[in-house]
Amino acid sequence: MTSLADKDHRYLWHPFTQMKDWLADEPVIIESGEGAMLRDTKGREYIDANSSIWTNLHGHRHPAITQAIKDQLDRVAHSSFLGLSNAPAIQLAEKLVNIAPHGLTRVFYSDDGSTAMEVAIKMALQYWQNRQQPQRTNFVAFADAYHGDTLGAVSLGGIDLFHATFKPLLFDVVRVKDMAGLRRVVDGTLAAVVIEPLIQGAGGMKLWPRGLLKELRAFCSQNGALLIADEVMTGFGRTGRMFACEHEGVTPDLMAVAKGLTGGYLPLAATLTTEEIFGAFLGEYSEFKTFFHGHSYTGNQLGCAAAVANLRVFEEDQTLEKMRPMCEQLRAGLEALRTRPHVGDVRHLGMIGAVELFKDVSTKEPYPLTDRIGMKACAEMRQRGVLTRPIGNTIVLMPPYCITRPQLDRVLSVLAEAILVVVA
Ligand SMILES: Cc1ncc(COP(=O)(O)O)c(C=O)c1O
Repeated sequence: MTSLADKDHRYLWHPFTQMKDWLADEPVIIESGEGAMLRDTKGREYIDANSSIWTNLHGHRHPAITQAIKDQLDRVAHSSFLGLSNAPAIQLAEKLVNIAPHGLTRVFYSDDGSTAMEVAIKMALQYWQNRQQPQRTNFVAFADAYHGDTLGAVSLGGIDLFHATFKPLLFDVVRVKDMAGLRRVVDGTLAAVVIEPLIQGAGGMKLWPRGLLKELRAFCSQNGALLIADEVMTGFGRTGRMFACEHEGVTPDLMAVAKGLTGGYLPLAATLTTEEIFGAFLGEYSEFKTFFHGHSYTGNQLGCAAAVANLRVFEEDQTLEKMRPMCEQLRAGLEALRTRPHVGDVRHLGMIGAVELFKDVSTKEPYPLTDRIGMKACAEMRQRGVLTRPIGNTIVLMPPYCITRPQLDRVLSVLAEAILVVVA
C-alpha cells in the first residue's frame, strides 16, 4: 500500500463505515475529477454514479464554479455573519428566493443538511412560542425518514439501524406512516410535520404516492401546523424540477436545502421560510423573540460564491431542460432490469434511480442485512470503474446531470453485471 493509504488506516475514522472492514481493504484515494469522472492516486478512473453522495450537479471542476471560488478567494474567504453581511450571501439569498416555491422569501444559512434541519426545527418551535401558542411543541415525522445526523435531525429520523442507538438523547416525535396515521394523531400540540417531499432518500429511495404532498399541505394549513420540507436531497433539479415541492405546487412553511446548493463544491446549507414566520421573530430586543442560533461559518463567502455560480449555470446552460433525456435514459435503463433475477423493485424519479434486490422476489423475502448484498454489488461496480453506495439491499444511482450518454450506458451495464455476480 502507498504511504497515503497506510496513513489513512492509521489516522482516520470514516463516516457510516465499519472501520474493521475498512482497515482490511485498500482505500480508494481520490486525487482529481472532471465532469462525471473521478480519478484515484493510482490513475484509475471511475464514473461518480452517486454524485459524491448526492451533492455534485454539473460535474467536477466545472470552469464557472471553480472560477467563482478562485475569484472569491482573491477577495476574502470568510468573515462572520454575526453583525456583518457580505455580497455573495446577499446575491445568493436573492437568487434562492427567486427560484424557491412562491412565498418562501427569507433565507437563513447554515453548513449542511443536518444543520439546515436543526434550524427548521428550532424556528418552528420558537415561532409558536413567539405567537403565544407555547403548547405547540410536537413534531410529526414519517416512518423511514432521514433528516441528518445531529440530534434534532436524528430525533426526526425513523431508520432504526442509524437512529435507535441514540434514543436516550432524542426528543419524542410522533411517528406516522401515512396521511391516515397523521389524521389520527393530530391535536393542538402539533408544531410541525416534517417530510422529504416526493421521495424518501436514505430510507431506501421510496416514492410517496402522487398527491400526498399536496394533501399534507392542505392538512397542515387546516390544522394550524407548519409544514417543513426537507429538500436536502431533492433540491436543485434532482427530481427533474428545481424543487420537489414544485411537482405538486406546494409551498412549505420551512424548506431545508444543502447538498446540491453549491453544485457539490463546498459545505453550505439554507433554511428558507415565509414572511409570516420571519415576522413572528420581530420585536423589541427586550421581548426576546430573537432567533438565537448560528454557526461560525454561517453565510461563508466561498460557499455562497460557489452557490451563486451553480445557480447561474442552471440558467445559462438550461440544465433542467438539457437533463431530461438523461432522466429518460436512466428510467429506461433501470426499467430494463426489472425482470432480472432477484430484482424485486426498481424506482426512479428525475436523476434518482434505485434497484432493490430480494432473496426471493415472489415472496418479497429480503436478503438479510448481514449478507451485505448491496455493498457487494457496489464493490463489484467499483472494480468495473463505477462508484456508488447502497442503502441496505438497494443500489442507488444518482449521477451528476452532466453525465454523458455513453457514461450512463456504462453505469447501467456495470450495474446489471454487478447484480448478476452478487446474486449468483
Ligand atoms: C433528506 C436529507 N436530509 C438531510 C440530510 C443530511 O444532510 P447532511 O449529510 O449534509 O448533513 C440528508 C443526507 O443525506 C438527506 O438525504
